[in-house]
Amino acid sequence: MKASKIVIDYEEYDSLSEMEPLDRELVLAAIEGQAGSYAPYSGFNVGAAVRLEDGTIVKGSNQENSAYPPGLCAERTAMFAASAHNPGKAFESIAIVGGFGFTQADSPCAPCGACRQVMAEYQTKSGRPMSIIMYGKTKTLKFSKVEDILPVIFDSFDEKER
Ligand code: THU
Repeated sequence: MKASKIVIDYEEYDSLSEMEPLDRELVLAAIEGQAGSYAPYSGFNVGAAVRLEDGTIVKGSNQENSAYPPGLCAERTAMFAASAHNPGKAFESIAIVGGFGFTQADSPCAPCGACRQVMAEYQTKSGRPMSIIMYGKTKTLKFSKVEDILPVIFDSFDEKER
């Protein structure tokens, strides 16, 4: 047995103005995306925006359903739309915002586990690290790759190597 540990580096920002222009632009796009949120059941409106390698930004928002499970998170809505409309283009980064009543919460909007797994898929497909920006009005977190928010990740490519 060998005791080991995982160390995760990330950046923390107090405000939008502190962020790099491209990241700020992506957060603002996610806020625009949030306007499309359909969340009559939870009242929690989430927006996401994906930046592709050529600079294209694709927005998404959570879409709920009266049967509940068929609904989809903002992040997956954005990623699936980005992939469906731009096959073959690498994902560079994703920004996420959320809050009740189309507001943005003070604390960072963190993606659910299923969305993290989907991020992992597109990061592997893209062959380059994808950064994740979790926006909050008073605290924003930026991670530089999906492994940092989903350590010890499942990746079927690992299986093929066995
Ligand atoms: N939601 C997202 O859109 N993204 C997440 O990562 C977490 C949750 C949505 C799902 C549901 O419509 C609402 O937020 C409340 O859970």
